[in-house]
Amino acid sequence: MRFAVIGGTGLIGSQVVRNLNAAGHEAVPHSLSTGVDVLTGQGVDAALAGADVVVNLTNSPTFDDASLAFFQTSMDRLLAAAEQAGTGHFVILSIVGVEQVPELDYYRAKTLQEDILKAGPVPYSIVRATQFMEFMDAALSWTADDDTVRLPRTPLQPVAAADVAATVSDVAAGAPLNGTLNLGGPDTYPLDELGRITLAAQGDTRSVTVDDTAGMFAAAHGDVLVAPQGARIAPTRYADWLRAKTTTGR
Ligand SMILES: NC(=O)c1ccc[n+]([C@@H]2O[C@H](COP(=O)([O-])OP(=O)(O)OC[C@H]3O[C@@H](n4cnc5c(N)ncnc54)[C@H](OP(=O)(O)O)[C@@H]3O)[C@@H](O)[C@H]2O)c1
Repeated sequence: MRFAVIGGTGLIGSQVVRNLNAAGHEAVPHSLSTGVDVLTGQGVDAALAGADVVVNLTNSPTFDDASLAFFQTSMDRLLAAAEQAGTGHFVILSIVGVEQVPELDYYRAKTLQEDILKAGPVPYSIVRATQFMEFMDAALSWTADDDTVRLPRTPLQPVAAADVAATVSDVAAGAPLNGTLNLGGPDTYPLDELGRITLAAQGDTRSVTVDDTAGMFAAAHGDVLVAPQGARIAPTRYADWLRAKTTTGR
């Protein structure tokens, strides 16, 4: 099958391209750096021509309210081009529990992306993943100073990007779900605990203080970011991923 992977140079997109090509498909990466711009529409029709499946793994450059316009414009352009090209399956990657944290602009933007896809003309699949393990360092950095990292107790279930890419690749190569598949990592931790585990593994001596108002995850109440019952559970454990990261420096 032929796949157009939009955002195919990103963290997840590049691995999806690799997985699909290794499985014998023809997957082509498209992004700003290959001359395709989902905001202006430049190169979009040509990128989608002849594709059986479109996998949209683009991301907004910011998490603020500009992300709403990013996902609105990009989805409008991509869906119009996919319909025109007769594409039979359109896949996006969203976030577990995303509609339950409307206080965050970015989460409202991802909910909008899902809603546009569901209302659109092309058979679709939505993969919702929990927070990527690769994202944890950034999450800690937002509320850190030289001595302390302040973190809320929000439960998170980190998942490795490679496991996310494997699931997106599987779903993209299958029949459209016209629905959502949820994916989470094997372990759930309060974010303050995740912070301690992460700092210790990296030999970072800063301490973690619980602050239920700190950082963007403070806006998520209860276990809304934990994968619901029936979710696919990915194999890679955070402790093993951290060990591999600190020994290989990847
Ligand atoms: N972080 C998490 O924990 C998490 C959890 C669940 C779901 N997700 C979702 O996963 C998706 C993929 O994330 P990621 O981390 O793989 O993203 P990423 O590494 O930041 O990659 C973003 C991709 O989008 C492309 N792009 C950006 N603006 C573009 C434009 N105007 N036109 C065309 N291409 C454009 C980039 O192209 P260039 O490389 O050429 O600039 C790049 O290929 C996102 O939609 C995100 O919401 C994330």
